Amino acid sequence: MTEFTAIEHPNPTPQEKITEALANPGFGTQFTDHMVTVEWTEDGGWQNAKVEPYGPISLDPAASVLHYASEIFEGMKAYRHSDGSIYTFRPEQNAARFNRSAKRMALPEIPEDLFVQSLEQLLAKDKAWVPGGEGESLYLRPYSFATEAFLGVRPSKEVRYMVIASPAGNFFGGELKPVKIWVSRDYVRAAPGGTGAAKTGGNYAGSLVAQEQAAANGCQQVLFLDPLHENSVEELGGMNVFLVTNDGRVLTPELTGTILEGVTRSALIQLAKDRGLTVEERRITLDEWAAGAADGTITEAFACGTAAAVTPIGELLDGDKTISHTGDYSTTLALREELLGIQTGKVEDRHGWLHKLA
Ligand code: COI
Repeated sequence: MTEFTAIEHPNPTPQEKITEALANPGFGTQFTDHMVTVEWTEDGGWQNAKVEPYGPISLDPAASVLHYASEIFEGMKAYRHSDGSIYTFRPEQNAARFNRSAKRMALPEIPEDLFVQSLEQLLAKDKAWVPGGEGESLYLRPYSFATEAFLGVRPSKEVRYMVIASPAGNFFGGELKPVKIWVSRDYVRAAPGGTGAAKTGGNYAGSLVAQEQAAANGCQQVLFLDPLHENSVEELGGMNVFLVTNDGRVLTPELTGTILEGVTRSALIQLAKDRGLTVEERRITLDEWAAGAADGTITEAFACGTAAAVTPIGELLDGDKTISHTGDYSTTLALREELLGIQTGKVEDRHGWLHKLA
Protein backbone atom coordinates (compact mmCIF):
# COMPACT_ATOMS: atom_id res chain seq x y z
CA MET A 1 0.00 0.00 0.00
CA THR A 2 1.28 3.45 -0.92
CA GLU A 3 0.87 6.20 1.68
CA PHE A 4 -1.20 9.05 0.21
CA THR A 5 -0.98 12.53 1.70
CA ALA A 6 -4.52 13.86 1.90
CA ILE A 7 -5.03 17.61 1.61
CA GLU A 8 -8.60 18.71 2.26
CA HIS A 9 -10.20 21.26 -0.04
CA PRO A 10 -10.35 24.55 1.91
CA ASN A 11 -13.72 25.47 0.31
CA PRO A 12 -15.48 22.28 -0.76
CA THR A 13 -18.45 22.73 -3.08
CA PRO A 14 -21.63 23.02 -0.98
CA GLN A 15 -24.04 20.08 -1.28
CA GLU A 16 -26.70 22.20 -3.06
CA LYS A 17 -24.19 23.14 -5.79
CA ILE A 18 -23.20 19.47 -6.20
CA THR A 19 -26.89 18.55 -6.46
CA GLU A 20 -27.26 21.23 -9.15
CA ALA A 21 -24.23 19.88 -11.05
CA LEU A 22 -25.55 16.32 -10.84
CA ALA A 23 -29.02 17.35 -12.06
CA ASN A 24 -27.57 17.86 -15.53
CA PRO A 25 -24.14 16.24 -15.62
CA GLY A 26 -23.48 16.41 -19.39
CA PHE A 27 -20.03 15.08 -20.19
CA GLY A 28 -16.62 16.31 -19.11
CA THR A 29 -17.38 19.91 -18.21
CA GLN A 30 -17.63 19.83 -14.41
CA PHE A 31 -14.99 18.49 -12.06
CA THR A 32 -15.01 17.29 -8.48
CA ASP A 33 -13.25 18.98 -5.57
CA HIS A 34 -10.14 16.79 -5.48
CA MET A 35 -7.56 15.20 -7.74
CA VAL A 36 -4.79 12.64 -7.33
CA THR A 37 -1.15 13.28 -8.18
CA VAL A 38 1.73 10.79 -8.02
CA GLU A 39 5.19 11.69 -9.26
CA TRP A 40 7.76 9.42 -10.87
CA THR A 41 11.46 9.88 -11.40
CA GLU A 42 13.86 7.53 -13.10
CA ASP A 43 15.92 7.25 -9.91
CA GLY A 44 13.19 7.23 -7.28
CA GLY A 45 10.27 5.49 -9.00
CA TRP A 46 6.69 6.40 -7.96
CA GLN A 47 6.57 8.78 -4.99
CA ASN A 48 4.82 11.70 -3.37
CA ALA A 49 1.27 10.36 -3.76
CA LYS A 50 -1.33 12.98 -2.90
CA VAL A 51 -5.03 13.54 -3.01
CA GLU A 52 -5.44 17.29 -3.00
CA PRO A 53 -7.82 20.11 -3.99
CA TYR A 54 -8.61 20.18 -7.72
CA GLY A 55 -6.91 23.08 -9.43
CA PRO A 56 -4.45 24.32 -12.05
CA ILE A 57 -1.05 22.65 -12.11
CA SER A 58 2.33 24.15 -12.78
CA LEU A 59 4.58 22.76 -15.53
CA ASP A 60 7.95 23.86 -16.86
CA PRO A 61 7.38 25.36 -20.34
CA ALA A 62 9.95 22.83 -21.63
CA ALA A 63 8.04 19.86 -20.16
CA SER A 64 8.33 17.12 -22.71
CA VAL A 65 4.57 16.46 -22.92
CA LEU A 66 4.03 19.98 -24.28
CA HIS A 67 6.39 19.31 -27.19
CA TYR A 68 6.29 15.62 -27.97
CA ALA A 69 2.87 14.59 -26.62
CA SER A 70 4.21 11.93 -24.23
CA GLU A 71 0.85 11.24 -22.62
CA ILE A 72 -1.46 8.30 -21.95
CA PHE A 73 -4.87 8.13 -20.32
CA GLU A 74 -7.72 5.88 -19.28
CA GLY A 75 -11.48 6.30 -19.16
CA MET A 76 -13.35 4.64 -16.30
CA LYS A 77 -16.55 5.20 -14.38
CA ALA A 78 -17.74 5.06 -10.77
CA TYR A 79 -21.35 3.95 -10.28
CA ARG A 80 -23.67 4.60 -7.35
CA HIS A 81 -25.51 1.54 -6.05
CA SER A 82 -28.84 1.72 -4.24
CA ASP A 83 -27.21 1.29 -0.81
CA GLY A 84 -25.04 4.38 -1.48
CA SER A 85 -21.83 2.45 -2.06
CA ILE A 86 -19.69 3.24 -5.11
CA TYR A 87 -18.26 0.68 -7.52
CA THR A 88 -16.07 0.75 -10.58
CA PHE A 89 -15.90 -1.76 -13.42
CA ARG A 90 -12.94 -4.07 -14.12
CA PRO A 91 -10.25 -1.62 -12.96
CA GLU A 92 -7.54 -4.25 -13.41
CA GLN A 93 -8.36 -4.22 -17.15
CA ASN A 94 -7.85 -0.46 -17.31
CA ALA A 95 -4.65 -0.75 -15.27
CA ALA A 96 -3.34 -3.40 -17.67
CA ARG A 97 -4.24 -1.31 -20.73
CA PHE A 98 -2.73 1.80 -19.11
CA ASN A 99 0.50 -0.12 -18.73
CA ARG A 100 0.39 -1.39 -22.33
CA SER A 101 -0.08 2.23 -23.42
CA ALA A 102 2.80 3.25 -21.11
CA LYS A 103 5.11 0.68 -22.71
CA ARG A 104 4.22 1.84 -26.22
CA MET A 105 4.74 5.51 -25.34
CA ALA A 106 7.96 4.95 -23.34
CA LEU A 107 6.33 6.12 -20.10
CA PRO A 108 6.74 4.24 -16.79
CA GLU A 109 4.26 1.51 -15.91
CA ILE A 110 2.35 1.96 -12.67
CA PRO A 111 1.69 -0.90 -10.23
CA GLU A 112 -1.91 -2.11 -10.53
CA ASP A 113 -2.52 -1.67 -6.79
CA LEU A 114 -1.34 1.96 -6.90
CA PHE A 115 -3.61 2.60 -9.90
CA VAL A 116 -6.63 1.11 -8.08
CA GLN A 117 -5.70 2.81 -4.81
CA SER A 118 -5.58 6.18 -6.58
CA LEU A 119 -9.25 5.73 -7.56
CA GLU A 120 -10.20 4.69 -4.03
CA GLN A 121 -8.40 7.73 -2.60
CA LEU A 122 -10.24 10.10 -4.89
CA LEU A 123 -13.64 8.51 -4.20
CA ALA A 124 -12.99 8.61 -0.44
CA LYS A 125 -13.08 12.40 -0.84
CA ASP A 126 -15.53 12.97 -3.68
CA LYS A 127 -18.15 10.25 -3.24
CA ALA A 128 -20.90 12.91 -3.11
CA TRP A 129 -20.19 13.70 -6.78
CA VAL A 130 -21.36 10.33 -8.13
CA PRO A 131 -24.79 10.80 -9.73
CA GLY A 132 -27.32 8.02 -9.38
CA GLY A 133 -29.68 8.60 -12.32
CA GLU A 134 -30.27 6.21 -15.21
CA GLY A 135 -27.12 6.00 -17.36
CA GLU A 136 -25.23 8.38 -15.05
CA SER A 137 -21.89 7.93 -13.33
CA LEU A 138 -18.75 9.72 -12.25
CA TYR A 139 -16.28 9.57 -15.13
CA LEU A 140 -12.73 8.89 -13.89
CA ARG A 141 -9.78 10.03 -15.94
CA PRO A 142 -6.37 8.61 -14.90
CA TYR A 143 -3.47 9.92 -17.01
CA SER A 144 0.32 10.12 -17.08
CA PHE A 145 2.50 12.65 -18.84
CA ALA A 146 6.17 13.54 -19.27
CA THR A 147 7.18 16.50 -17.10
CA GLU A 148 10.95 16.62 -17.56
CA ALA A 149 12.16 19.98 -18.86
CA PHE A 150 14.15 18.72 -21.84
CA LEU A 151 13.80 19.32 -25.55
CA GLY A 152 15.90 16.35 -26.62
CA VAL A 153 13.73 13.54 -27.93
CA ARG A 154 14.02 10.61 -25.51
CA PRO A 155 11.90 9.08 -22.76
CA SER A 156 11.31 11.52 -19.93
CA LYS A 157 13.08 10.97 -16.61
CA GLU A 158 10.24 12.68 -14.78
CA VAL A 159 6.57 11.81 -15.14
CA ARG A 160 3.36 12.73 -13.37
CA TYR A 161 0.31 10.50 -12.93
CA MET A 162 -3.00 12.15 -12.10
CA VAL A 163 -6.66 11.27 -11.69
CA ILE A 164 -9.51 13.73 -12.08
CA ALA A 165 -13.23 13.01 -12.01
CA SER A 166 -16.25 14.49 -13.76
CA PRO A 167 -19.96 13.69 -13.34
CA ALA A 168 -21.27 12.15 -16.57
CA GLY A 169 -24.62 11.63 -18.25
CA ASN A 170 -25.09 10.67 -21.90
CA PHE A 171 -21.81 11.25 -23.80
CA PHE A 172 -23.75 12.46 -26.85
CA GLY A 173 -25.93 14.78 -24.76
CA GLY A 174 -29.64 14.68 -23.98
CA GLU A 175 -31.64 11.47 -24.20
CA LEU A 176 -30.23 8.27 -25.66
CA LYS A 177 -30.97 8.18 -29.39
CA PRO A 178 -29.34 6.60 -32.43
CA VAL A 179 -26.30 8.54 -33.62
CA LYS A 180 -25.17 9.40 -37.13
CA ILE A 181 -21.65 8.42 -38.16
CA TRP A 182 -19.42 9.93 -40.85
CA VAL A 183 -17.04 7.63 -42.74
CA SER A 184 -13.65 9.30 -42.97
CA ARG A 185 -12.19 8.89 -46.46
CA ASP A 186 -9.55 11.63 -46.05
CA TYR A 187 -7.91 10.52 -42.82
CA VAL A 188 -6.84 7.31 -41.11
CA ARG A 189 -6.54 6.84 -37.37
CA ALA A 190 -3.76 4.28 -37.13
CA ALA A 191 -1.51 1.98 -39.12
CA PRO A 192 0.26 -1.28 -38.22
CA GLY A 193 3.19 -0.58 -35.89
CA GLY A 194 1.74 2.81 -34.94
CA THR A 195 0.08 3.87 -31.71
CA GLY A 196 -3.52 2.88 -32.53
CA ALA A 197 -3.85 0.38 -29.68
CA ALA A 198 -2.40 2.81 -27.14
CA LYS A 199 -4.70 5.20 -25.35
CA THR A 200 -2.59 8.25 -26.03
CA GLY A 201 -3.79 11.80 -26.55
CA GLY A 202 -2.23 12.10 -30.01
CA ASN A 203 -4.62 9.51 -31.44
CA TYR A 204 -7.51 11.72 -30.37
CA ALA A 205 -5.86 14.96 -31.49
CA GLY A 206 -5.31 13.31 -34.88
CA SER A 207 -8.99 12.43 -35.10
CA LEU A 208 -10.24 15.98 -34.62
CA VAL A 209 -10.18 17.23 -38.23
CA ALA A 210 -12.07 14.11 -39.26
CA GLN A 211 -14.45 14.68 -36.35
CA GLU A 212 -14.95 18.25 -37.59
CA GLN A 213 -15.86 16.93 -41.03
CA ALA A 214 -18.30 14.57 -39.33
CA ALA A 215 -19.91 17.43 -37.44
CA ALA A 216 -20.07 19.58 -40.60
CA ASN A 217 -22.04 16.74 -42.17
CA GLY A 218 -24.46 16.47 -39.28
CA CYS A 219 -22.77 13.44 -37.69
CA GLN A 220 -21.79 12.90 -34.06
CA GLN A 221 -18.83 10.59 -34.64
CA VAL A 222 -16.38 9.61 -37.31
CA LEU A 223 -15.65 6.05 -38.48
CA PHE A 224 -12.08 5.27 -39.44
CA LEU A 225 -11.24 2.58 -41.97
CA ASP A 226 -8.29 0.20 -42.04
CA PRO A 227 -5.48 1.96 -43.98
CA LEU A 228 -4.34 -1.31 -45.58
CA HIS A 229 -7.73 -2.81 -46.42
CA GLU A 230 -9.51 0.29 -47.58
CA ASN A 231 -13.06 -0.74 -47.00
CA SER A 232 -12.62 -2.41 -43.63
CA VAL A 233 -14.16 -0.91 -40.53
CA GLU A 234 -11.75 -0.07 -37.69
CA GLU A 235 -13.23 2.09 -34.96
CA LEU A 236 -14.92 5.39 -34.29
CA GLY A 237 -13.07 8.52 -33.10
CA GLY A 238 -13.40 7.45 -29.47
CA MET A 239 -15.24 4.13 -29.33
CA ASN A 240 -15.51 0.61 -30.77
CA VAL A 241 -18.21 -0.55 -33.17
CA PHE A 242 -20.49 -3.62 -33.32
CA LEU A 243 -23.07 -4.96 -35.81
CA VAL A 244 -25.94 -7.37 -35.06
CA THR A 245 -27.36 -9.82 -37.61
CA ASN A 246 -30.85 -11.27 -37.94
CA ASP A 247 -29.54 -14.80 -37.28
CA GLY A 248 -28.09 -14.20 -33.82
CA ARG A 249 -24.57 -13.07 -34.63
CA VAL A 250 -22.70 -10.10 -33.29
CA LEU A 251 -19.81 -8.78 -35.40
CA THR A 252 -16.97 -6.51 -34.36
CA PRO A 253 -13.63 -5.72 -35.99
CA GLU A 254 -10.86 -7.97 -34.70
CA LEU A 255 -8.01 -6.49 -32.66
CA THR A 256 -5.17 -6.08 -35.10
CA GLY A 257 -2.96 -3.71 -33.13
CA THR A 258 -4.52 -0.62 -34.70
CA ILE A 259 -7.75 -0.71 -32.69
CA LEU A 260 -8.20 0.24 -29.06
CA GLU A 261 -8.83 -2.83 -26.92
CA GLY A 262 -12.01 -1.57 -25.31
CA VAL A 263 -12.92 -2.80 -21.83
CA THR A 264 -16.59 -2.25 -22.73
CA ARG A 265 -15.96 -4.07 -26.02
CA SER A 266 -14.63 -7.12 -24.19
CA ALA A 267 -17.49 -7.09 -21.63
CA LEU A 268 -20.09 -6.91 -24.42
CA ILE A 269 -18.48 -9.83 -26.23
CA GLN A 270 -18.87 -11.86 -23.03
CA LEU A 271 -22.47 -10.72 -22.42
CA ALA A 272 -23.39 -11.49 -26.04
CA LYS A 273 -21.93 -15.00 -25.70
CA ASP A 274 -23.80 -15.46 -22.40
CA ARG A 275 -27.02 -14.75 -24.33
CA GLY A 276 -26.22 -17.50 -26.80
CA LEU A 277 -25.26 -15.08 -29.57
CA THR A 278 -22.34 -16.00 -31.81
CA VAL A 279 -19.59 -13.39 -31.66
CA GLU A 280 -17.42 -12.93 -34.74
CA GLU A 281 -14.29 -10.83 -34.29
CA ARG A 282 -13.05 -10.39 -37.81
CA ARG A 283 -12.57 -8.00 -40.70
CA ILE A 284 -15.86 -6.27 -41.61
CA THR A 285 -16.08 -4.38 -44.86
CA LEU A 286 -18.31 -1.41 -45.53
CA ASP A 287 -19.68 -3.33 -48.50
CA GLU A 288 -20.79 -6.14 -46.19
CA TRP A 289 -22.35 -3.60 -43.80
CA ALA A 290 -24.16 -1.78 -46.62
CA ALA A 291 -25.41 -4.99 -48.26
CA GLY A 292 -26.52 -6.44 -44.89
CA ALA A 293 -28.36 -3.27 -43.91
CA ALA A 294 -30.07 -3.17 -47.33
CA ASP A 295 -31.22 -6.80 -47.37
CA GLY A 296 -32.12 -6.90 -43.65
CA THR A 297 -29.46 -9.39 -42.54
CA ILE A 298 -27.59 -6.74 -40.51
CA THR A 299 -30.31 -5.32 -38.34
CA GLU A 300 -28.51 -3.21 -35.76
CA ALA A 301 -25.27 -1.32 -35.26
CA PHE A 302 -23.92 0.29 -32.12
CA ALA A 303 -20.97 2.19 -30.72
CA CYS A 304 -19.47 1.28 -27.36
CA GLY A 305 -16.91 2.59 -24.94
CA THR A 306 -16.64 3.68 -21.35
CA ALA A 307 -17.83 7.19 -22.16
CA ALA A 308 -20.45 6.19 -24.75
CA ALA A 309 -21.60 3.01 -22.92
CA VAL A 310 -23.70 1.37 -25.66
CA THR A 311 -25.18 3.81 -28.18
CA PRO A 312 -27.24 2.72 -31.21
CA ILE A 313 -26.01 3.81 -34.64
CA GLY A 314 -28.86 5.04 -36.83
CA GLU A 315 -27.04 6.05 -39.98
CA LEU A 316 -23.63 5.86 -41.58
CA LEU A 317 -22.78 8.51 -44.18
CA ASP A 318 -20.13 7.51 -46.70
CA GLY A 319 -19.88 10.38 -49.17
CA ASP A 320 -23.18 10.32 -51.02
CA LYS A 321 -24.05 6.80 -49.83
CA THR A 322 -26.05 6.19 -46.67
CA ILE A 323 -26.39 3.03 -44.61
CA SER A 324 -29.49 3.14 -42.41
CA HIS A 325 -30.73 1.11 -39.48
CA THR A 326 -34.29 1.65 -38.43
CA GLY A 327 -34.98 -1.50 -36.43
CA ASP A 328 -35.94 -1.76 -32.79
CA TYR A 329 -32.33 -2.15 -31.57
CA SER A 330 -33.57 -4.97 -29.34
CA THR A 331 -30.16 -6.66 -28.98
CA THR A 332 -28.29 -3.36 -28.62
CA LEU A 333 -30.65 -2.14 -25.92
CA ALA A 334 -30.72 -5.50 -24.12
CA LEU A 335 -26.90 -5.54 -24.00
CA ARG A 336 -26.87 -1.92 -22.86
CA GLU A 337 -29.39 -2.58 -20.11
CA GLU A 338 -27.57 -5.64 -18.88
CA LEU A 339 -24.17 -3.90 -18.85
CA LEU A 340 -25.52 -0.80 -17.08
CA GLY A 341 -27.49 -3.08 -14.76
CA ILE A 342 -24.33 -4.92 -13.71
CA GLN A 343 -22.42 -1.68 -13.30
CA THR A 344 -25.10 -0.11 -11.12
CA GLY A 345 -25.76 -3.21 -9.04
CA LYS A 346 -29.22 -3.99 -10.46
CA VAL A 347 -28.14 -7.15 -12.29
CA GLU A 348 -26.05 -9.92 -10.74
CA ASP A 349 -22.32 -9.41 -11.29
CA ARG A 350 -21.79 -13.01 -12.36
CA HIS A 351 -18.35 -12.41 -13.84
CA GLY A 352 -16.96 -10.57 -10.77
CA TRP A 353 -16.40 -7.36 -12.72
CA LEU A 354 -17.21 -4.87 -9.98
CA HIS A 355 -14.71 -3.36 -7.57
CA LYS A 356 -15.91 -1.37 -4.56
CA LEU A 357 -14.31 2.07 -4.38
CA ALA A 358 -16.20 3.65 -1.49
C1 COI B 1 -13.78 6.59 -23.07
O1 COI B 1 -14.69 5.96 -23.58
O2 COI B 1 -13.59 6.58 -21.85
C2 COI B 1 -12.86 7.36 -23.88
O3 COI B 1 -11.74 7.47 -23.49
C3 COI B 1 -13.36 7.96 -25.11
C4 COI B 1 -13.28 9.43 -25.18
C5 COI B 1 -14.16 10.23 -24.33
C6 COI B 1 -11.95 9.96 -25.47
